[in-house]
Amino acid sequence: MTGDTGAEELRTGRLLLSRPVPADLDAILALHTDPEACEHNPSDMLATREDADELLLRWSDQWNEYGFGYWTVRRHGSPEPLGFCGVKTVGFRRRSILNLFYRFFPSSWGSGYAGEAATAAVDWARAHRPDDLVIARVRPENVASQRVAVRAGLVRMEHLDAPGDDGIDWFYISD
Ligand SMILES: CC(C)(COP(=O)(O)OP(=O)(O)OC[C@H]1O[C@@H](n2cnc3c(N)ncnc32)[C@H](O)[C@@H]1OP(=O)(O)O)[C@@H](O)C(=O)NCCC(=O)NCCS
Repeated sequence: MTGDTGAEELRTGRLLLSRPVPADLDAILALHTDPEACEHNPSDMLATREDADELLLRWSDQWNEYGFGYWTVRRHGSPEPLGFCGVKTVGFRRRSILNLFYRFFPSSWGSGYAGEAATAAVDWARAHRPDDLVIARVRPENVASQRVAVRAGLVRMEHLDAPGDDGIDWFYISD
């Protein structure tokens, strides 16, 4: 599989999404050691810098293999990451699909950034990977995340709900 060109940087009205680099390691570690940012998915929490290194390596493996993945999200002109968002190839019921991910620093919540970034990620996937379903798995109590999935164009599919790493996950899927 070759990478699609142009995926390493996406621009939206307010945001720049770029392929994560080692300089983003501090932000990856800070976000994944923040209990508020991992409240609904505690299994995603990291303990050490080595854990963050490994996570970045997994994200980079996805990029190297497929030419797209999770992006670091910033406001235009700002060096500080707001969070991370993107799609990653995962196996689901013996087919390959794209898992939509988003996690932002609590200081940035409530401004529509996650919805804007997730919409760009799903739009990119639909344009460049039209045969791949995009899914988001969201904990039932995580209302903000459910709103982001819907804003990005995904539709709730109750019959697919299934246990995940942190309990039951609600499924949202691109139609
Ligand atoms: C989920 C998350 C990314 C949302 O980030 P955000 O930047 O605040 O999202 P937005 O500002 O784009 O808001 C998204 C929607 O959720 C709504 N919302 C935000 N916080 C909410 C809350 N606490 N309760 C209910 N709705 C909420 C907003 O009003 C908005 O609704 P709309 O699209 O109908 O206008 C952020 O809360 C986060 O990073 N959480 C921790 C990580 C996480 O849970 N990731 C998802 C794992 S499945």
